[in-house]
Amino acid sequence: MISISPKTQSQHAKHKRLADILRSAIAEGKLTPGDKLPSARKLAELHDMNRHTVMNALQNLVAEGWLVVKERSGYRVNTELPILSSQQVTTKVASTPQVIAPFAKALTPVTSTKSTAYRYSFAGGLPDLHAFPYNEFKRFLQKACSKSNISHFHYSDIAGCQLLKSQVQAYLRRARGLVCDDLLICNGSQEALSLIANAFINPGDGVAIEMLGYPPARHAFTNAGAEIFALAQDAEGIKVEALARCLEQNKVKLLYLTPLHQYPTTVTLSVPRRMAIYQLCQQYGVFIIEDDYDHEFHYLCPPLQPMAASDPSGIVIYVSTFSKIMFAGARVGYLSARADVLAQLVARKQLLNHKNDAVTQLAVAYWMEEGGFERHLRRMTKAYQGRHHEMALHLNKLKTKLDIDFEVPQGGMAYWVNSKRDVSRLSEKAREKGIYVQCEPEFSLDKASSLSHIRLGFAAQEVEQQQAGLSELFALVAELEKNHE
Ligand SMILES: Cc1ncc(COP(=O)(O)O)c(C=O)c1O
Repeated sequence: MISISPKTQSQHAKHKRLADILRSAIAEGKLTPGDKLPSARKLAELHDMNRHTVMNALQNLVAEGWLVVKERSGYRVNTELPILSSQQVTTKVASTPQVIAPFAKALTPVTSTKSTAYRYSFAGGLPDLHAFPYNEFKRFLQKACSKSNISHFHYSDIAGCQLLKSQVQAYLRRARGLVCDDLLICNGSQEALSLIANAFINPGDGVAIEMLGYPPARHAFTNAGAEIFALAQDAEGIKVEALARCLEQNKVKLLYLTPLHQYPTTVTLSVPRRMAIYQLCQQYGVFIIEDDYDHEFHYLCPPLQPMAASDPSGIVIYVSTFSKIMFAGARVGYLSARADVLAQLVARKQLLNHKNDAVTQLAVAYWMEEGGFERHLRRMTKAYQGRHHEMALHLNKLKTKLDIDFEVPQGGMAYWVNSKRDVSRLSEKAREKGIYVQCEPEFSLDKASSLSHIRLGFAAQEVEQQQAGLSELFALVAELEKNHE
C-alpha cells in the first residue's frame, strides 16, 4: 500500500493529476507489479475529489496498461509491466550498460554564437537587425495568414510558392541581370548547399573550394562524403592554374565559389578569371555552385552580373538568400539550375521537409509585390555604403599608429584586414571583452601558415558604435606579437 502525497491543487484536470501521481509511483517503484490500489472511495477521500473523477483516472491508467482491473478485487498494478526496479528507471547505475546510438556518421555538435549578444559585433554577414521594417512586414504576414490562402497551407508546391518564385525571378532579372526559368525556394542557402552536396556527392567524390572559405558550405560537402581540394587564392580570387592542376589530377564534381564578394576575403573575382574558370569547368564536366549571398550591397561600381547569367552549358547552380537583405531567422533562400538538376534537387527537398513555411513565403512575396522589399534594400544599401566608407576612414586612422593593411572592398558587408600579427587567439580575447569578431584561422584550410587577417563586418552597427568597437579591438591587436616580415 502506498501513501499518496497530500491533496494537490493542480492546473490540470484533477483526474489527470491523480493519474500522473499513480503513474509516477509505479515508474519509480513505489507501487510494484501486482500491488493492489486503495479503493476508489478511499482515493477520493485522500485526494478530496469525487469518486467519478477517481474512476476516470483509474480507467485511463487501465487503458494505458499501467493497471488491470478485476471484478470484486479492484485495481492492481499490471504484472506485465517491463519495469525492473525503481533504481533502473530513475537513476543511472554504474553497471547499467549504456546503449550506444548507432549514428550513420557522428557529427560534432555546433555551438552557434549569438553575435548580437556582444557589446560590439563585427560579425561579417550580419545585417542591421534594428533597421528592419518589422511593422511594415507584419502587415504582409497578416495578409498571408488568412483563409483566402488555404490552398497554400497543405502539402504541395515543394519548390516554393509560385507568387514568391515569380517575384524573385522578376527581381533577379531586374536587379542582377539573371534570367531563371525556375527556382527552388529553400530554408536558407545552407539547405540549398546540403541538397546539392547530397545530390552530387558519393563518398570520395571531389569538391574544389577556396582555401579561405565559408565553413558551413565546406561542412555540407564533407558531411556528404566529399574529398575537399583547397585552391590557392590571390588578390583577384582563386588562381586559375591551381584549379587547372586540381581538375587535371583529381576527379572533381563540384566547384564552390563566392565570386562577387569572396567569403571571407571580400575580393571580387575578375571577369577574365571567371571566364577561365568557366572554361575549365566546362572542359572537365564540373558543376559550379555560385553562392551570391549579398549581391545588392555593392558600392564602388555596379556589381558584376552573376556567372549564372552567361552559362551556355548549364553548369552553374546559382544559390542566394534573404538572410542578408532581411534576416537569417526568416530562413528564405533559393537556388536556380538547369531543368534536370533542379528536378533532382526538388525531389531531395521533398525528402527533407516537403516545402518551406508557406506563411513566410507569401508574406515575402506580398512585400516584394508591394515594393517594400526594394525600398528596404535601397535604404540599407545607402546605410551600409556610409558604414563601409566610415570604416575605411577609421581603419586609415588606426593605420597611422599601427602597422596594418587592407584593401577597400568594392562591396559586401565586411573588410579583410591584415594585422601582420598572429591572430589565432584574437577572437577569443576579443569575445572576453564583449567584442564579437572572426579571424583568419576560422576560415582557412591552411593550418601551416601564420594567419594574420581579421574579418570586420560593418553592416550591423551604427557608425559611432562601430568606431568605439574598432578602437577597443585594435587596442587588443596592438598587444599581439608582430609577425616577422
Ligand atoms: C558565404 C555565405 N553563403 C550563404 C550565407 C547565408 O546562409 P543562409 O541563407 O543559410 O542563412 C552566408 C551567411 O553568412 C554566407 O556568408
